[in-house]
Amino acid sequence: MGIVFIAAGLAYGLLAPAPPVLAESPDELPPNQRLIRLDEIHEHNRTADTYWVFRGDKVYDITDWVPNHPGGEVILRAAGGSLEPYWNIFTIHQKQEVYDVLEHITATLQCSGNRRSHMTQASRPTVGLQWGVGAIGTATWTGVRLRDVLADAGLDLQDPDEDIKHLKFVGAEAYGASIPIDKAIDRHGDVLLAFSMNGQPLPRDHGFPLRVLVPGHVAARSVKWLSKIVISDEESTSQWQRRDYKCFGPNVRASHPDWDSAPAIQETPVQSAITSVRRVQADKLLDSALARVYGLEEDSVVLEGYAFAGGGRHIVRVDISPDRGHTWLQAQLQDDGAKMGASGSPDDHRAWAWRQWRAAVPATQVSGKFCVKATDDSYNVQPDTFEPTYNFRGNLANAWHRVPVIRDDKPS
Ligand code: HEM
Ligand SMILES: *[C@@H]1O[C@H](CO)[C@@H](O)[C@H](O)[C@H]1NC(C)=O
Repeated sequence: MGIVFIAAGLAYGLLAPAPPVLAESPDELPPNQRLIRLDEIHEHNRTADTYWVFRGDKVYDITDWVPNHPGGEVILRAAGGSLEPYWNIFTIHQKQEVYDVLEHITATLQCSGNRRSHMTQASRPTVGLQWGVGAIGTATWTGVRLRDVLADAGLDLQDPDEDIKHLKFVGAEAYGASIPIDKAIDRHGDVLLAFSMNGQPLPRDHGFPLRVLVPGHVAARSVKWLSKIVISDEESTSQWQRRDYKCFGPNVRASHPDWDSAPAIQETPVQSAITSVRRVQADKLLDSALARVYGLEEDSVVLEGYAFAGGGRHIVRVDISPDRGHTWLQAQLQDDGAKMGASGSPDDHRAWAWRQWRAAVPATQVSGKFCVKATDDSYNVQPDTFEPTYNFRGNLANAWHRVPVIRDDKPS
């Protein structure tokens, strides 16, 4: 029989992809995850072509890691079984840096223009692609740490020269951007040179063969098709650094901004959006998973969406209003494996991935529009309207997301 473990999709890459979660029954498995029986793990022992190990409820493919393991081939003793007994002896492993080797980074990339169309509709015209809620995405990434590459190239990470201020990235077709050197060398900054996405080689559209991944920063800094890295005393001079991705006051017109007066966008502000609204009838709920999750007893509207804060700040709360902001309730934050960023600790600032959320509202409480707003762990909140943060480029549009209530009574 054996205990049942779950691993994400196929185990690929440096080690296993998205952190799998132990579920009570196979129906509750998140997407891209599957149950793995202990017998199957045993087969990936040192006589096999690929080596698997497990720790807790997660399974890891360590095949590519074996030649890189500082302790050498002795690691193969654990192949096909649990890491724990060995790590209890070789206690050098019981620290965060080693645990981090096991995990990929799950990070969200968000365009500075996400939700730009909402700003345009609620305020005035903006210049740029009129994005809805979809200029944002989340993936697991594998690569080498940029700070390790810089150290290897001779940069003194402990005490870099005073005049080193920025790291410039040059990509294909002259695209370029830069980030502050502190982010690049921060042990907890998790900046990667990524060659794999969701356990597969980086797709061409996502920057094959190599892209930068700057988690917590606006996606424009995660330069694709990377060709060159320059240590510099100044920011990139590209228009994407010096012009496009900046915010000015609501009064400033597109015709004469003082470009240098505003800083380039790096970390992004707290954001949230509703991505699904479903009306659910009570009699249809009785034995459904939704009814169990919410304990619903009456006709309800189920909302789902995402919330994301830049700079690695955690989302601490998502508030939903079923009536234009008069009354509020708290959405349930999904335990989607991405919630803690790289390190698994709620106390750090490494929440690199969005939190998905859902909420159910009794149909009788619904009137006017639904609103959503999120709060991050610095208690930053989203503005209620777009007017105060209007900027002619429509960047960082993060006012409350409002969606009309659905009127038809058809069950979904
Ligand atoms: C995926 C699983 C493993 C990972 C990610 C891993 C990672 C590492 C790392 C990062 C170090 C260097 C630590 C340091 O110098 O601070 C190390 C050293 C070492 N590892 Fe592992 N290890 C794994 C599994 C194992 C297993 C299963 C064994 C034994 C059966 C083992 C035996 C050793 C030994 C003996 C050293 C110490 C070498 C020395 O003293 O310099 N490792 N490992
Ligand atoms: C090791 O794996 C092979 C198949 O890869 C299997 O035939 C064998 O029984 C395994 N050994 C143990 C001890 O599980």
